[in-house]
Amino acid sequence: MKIVTLLGSPRSQGNSSTIARHIVQAAEANGWTSRSFELNRLTYRGCQGCYACKQERDDCVLRDDLTEVLAAVREADLVVFATPVYYGDISSQLKAFMDRTFSYLVPGYATAEQPSRLSPKKLIFVQCQGHPDEASFADIFPRYQYFFKRQNFTEVRLVRACGIGPNTVDKVPEAVLAKAVETWRELTS
Ligand SMILES: Cc1cc2nc3c(=O)[nH]c(=O)nc-3n(C[C@H](O)[C@H](O)[C@H](O)COP(=O)(O)O)c2cc1C
Repeated sequence: MKIVTLLGSPRSQGNSSTIARHIVQAAEANGWTSRSFELNRLTYRGCQGCYACKQERDDCVLRDDLTEVLAAVREADLVVFATPVYYGDISSQLKAFMDRTFSYLVPGYATAEQPSRLSPKKLIFVQCQGHPDEASFADIFPRYQYFFKRQNFTEVRLVRACGIGPNTVDKVPEAVLAKAVETWRELTS
C-alpha cells in the first residue's frame, strides 16, 4: 500500500509537517511505502485554464515539478494534505496544487456519474492554525472536502491543531499527534 504526503507549509519542521510525518511513520511501520513532497521546495505554476485535460489529454499539459506529484497521487492508496492556515485558507503552495488537480477531472465532469480519473482513495487533511478557537477557520475543511469527494477520495478525515505557531507555542500537542496516528489506523483497518 502507498501513502503520498504533500507538505503545504514552507516550514520544513513546522507543525503540519510534523503531524504528517507521524502519520507516515505509522504507515511505514506497517509496511506501507511512502513518498513525501515538500511543495515549497518545488518549482511549479498554478492551473493555466487551457482545458487541454478536457480535450486531447487525460493529464496536465504543464511539465514542471508537479508533474511527478500529480502522478504519485494517482498511484496512492492514501494521501495526506498538510497545511497551515494562511489568511483563512490553505497555503498558496497547496492551493496551486489543488488547482492543478483539475486535470484529474474527466470531460463533462459537472454531470458525470464519476467525475474523477482517480481510482478510489483515502485522504487525511491536516490543518494547523495560530488561532486557538476551533470555530475559527472551521469552514476550510468542509469547503475542500466537497472537492476531495468529487476527486474520488471516498473517505476523508480531518486532523487539526489550533492555537499553535511561532506567535505562541510552536509545538504540536501530543494528543494531536496521537489522534493523527489513530485517524490513520481507523482509515486503514
Ligand atoms: C502568512 C501567514 C498567515 C497566517 N494566517 C493565519 C490565519 O488566517 N489564521 C490563523 O489562525 N493562523 C494564521 N497563521 C498562523 C499559522 O497558521 C500557524 O502558525 C500554524 O501553526 C503554522 O503551521 P506550520 O508550522 O505547519 O507552518 C498565519 C501565518 C502566516 C505566516
